[in-house]
Amino acid sequence: MSEAAPGSGRVAVVTGAARGIGAATAVRLAREGFAVAVCDLDEAGCAATAGRVEEAGGRALAVGVDVSDAPAVEAAIARIAAELGPPVVLVNNAGIIRDNLLFRMSDDDWDSVMSVHLRGAFLMSRAAQRHMTDAGWGRIVNLSSVSALGNRGQANYSAAKAGLQGFTKTLAIELGRFGVTANAIAPGFIATEMTAATAARVGMDFEEFKQAAAKEIPVRRVGVPEDIAGTVAFLVSDDASFVSGQVIYVAGGPRA
Ligand SMILES: NC(=O)c1ccc[n+]([C@@H]2O[C@H](COP(=O)([O-])OP(=O)(O)OC[C@H]3O[C@@H](n4cnc5c(N)ncnc54)[C@H](O)[C@@H]3O)[C@@H](O)[C@H]2O)c1
Repeated sequence: MSEAAPGSGRVAVVTGAARGIGAATAVRLAREGFAVAVCDLDEAGCAATAGRVEEAGGRALAVGVDVSDAPAVEAAIARIAAELGPPVVLVNNAGIIRDNLLFRMSDDDWDSVMSVHLRGAFLMSRAAQRHMTDAGWGRIVNLSSVSALGNRGQANYSAAKAGLQGFTKTLAIELGRFGVTANAIAPGFIATEMTAATAARVGMDFEEFKQAAAKEIPVRRVGVPEDIAGTVAFLVSDDASFVSGQVIYVAGGPRA
């Protein structure tokens, strides 16, 4: 890691970092000079991403944690602070989908999605913010979605992703005086295991699914995890210190 790197050894926490957008973000933040706590339910996946972070020149800590479990979150943040250093960047990326039309959506479909996205982001932010306010510098980035604008079959997910936008704006208002910014990224279609699972659910080959999606996107391609990682890298940089409470749609066009 070069001394001139923007992260300068600061500690970043990325949730849902075993794969997909979270893994790409962890690797990108390592390239930017951050030490990275790689957090996920999937501990083997965490270890694999931590290996990629180290290859990219960063220090890494793999942390198995369920972001919706309050004691586990407190323990994870305490362990990260002790073993890697006080976390001053938090990317709330862990997520699940439980798609169903409203009349078929179960209580569990609703509760589990709220639990991971909203409760998870709340618990992680509450546990990490004290390290940011102590440092007088911090960055929180929450993963919303174009689905926040409404999406058939996603009453639970769209409500959670819209909720994250309000949560982000309130964090920006409360934490700004401590040098902490909070922003949300709302991705469009990003090729990951999450969108591959959606293709499988509707009975489509993933390549055909991506090609069909690309036709509807102004830049004529689907997104890749690195598109989101790059936006995170900007939002956690010193250059973005006057950007707070914003939702950046990263979708290859102005709309979903
Ligand atoms: N892929 C897309 O098109 C897209 C679009 C908009 C928003 N997003 C959002 O971006 C984020 C990442 O999406 P992705 O496509 O990389 O998904 P993904 O399914 O590939 O990865 C999500 C990761 O979150 C982890 N996770 C799930 N529940 C968890 C929990 N309770 N505690 C800790 N980790 C948990 C999973 O184990 C997995 O590794 C999600 O919040 C998702 O909703 C994705």
